[in-house]
Amino acid sequence: QAKQPLVGKRVLVSAGGTQERIDPVRYIGNDSSGKMGTAVANAAAAAGAEVTLVATKMLPVLPGVEAVYVTSAAELHDAMLANFDAADLVVMAAAVADFRPVDVSGTKIKKQSADDGLHLDLVQNPDILAAMGAQKSHQYLVGFAAETNDLVANAQAKLEHKGADMIVANPVGYGQGFNADTDTVTILRRGQDPLALDEAAKRDVAATIVGLAEAEM
Ligand code: C5P
Repeated sequence: QAKQPLVGKRVLVSAGGTQERIDPVRYIGNDSSGKMGTAVANAAAAAGAEVTLVATKMLPVLPGVEAVYVTSAAELHDAMLANFDAADLVVMAAAVADFRPVDVSGTKIKKQSADDGLHLDLVQNPDILAAMGAQKSHQYLVGFAAETNDLVANAQAKLEHKGADMIVANPVGYGQGFNADTDTVTILRRGQDPLALDEAAKRDVAATIVGLAEAEM
């Protein structure tokens, strides 16, 4: 049997894209599949951890992963914060919508005339990673940065502004990143040079992330 360096540790992971309700049949969403976050949860369980996965997508999990399913950023926020104090390692892989509609229509929004448009008023969602970064004590905190441009510079800024210990920077765009089975990531940590990994299956990238985090815990 493989070594289990995370026995006795609690790991909290988020996965998938949130959905922000507009009306009973519509939402604002994104292309995150939940594959990377779920792979991280499974990698942590394989290393012996007790894992809580807060996910928007239902994918297969190993024994040792307790999955909690949520839909919106608000629900994901509450589930993460409820499990935060007990966690030793927190990996925020979910793609949280930055904005949600101010009002959710109770009925399906209709077109009024042939040429009308529609304005949706949006309000910012709380930044869950930054909230955890501000209140962390012993937790090792990992965030993701999905970027279409200026990957490392944007990710470096996130490491600092959000109080994370590690940011996994991954290029996204058409056919890359979200929903793919492989990823080409660069790992940023405080005071260390960026670590650019070769393209690899998400389960291998996940195992690398967990291995690097566990060495710091
Ligand atoms: O700022 P940006 O959304 O690119 O940062 C990505 C990181 O921040 C991810 O780890 C994501 O899970 C997290 N995040 C969050 N709450 C938000 C937005 C992003 O925790 N409202």
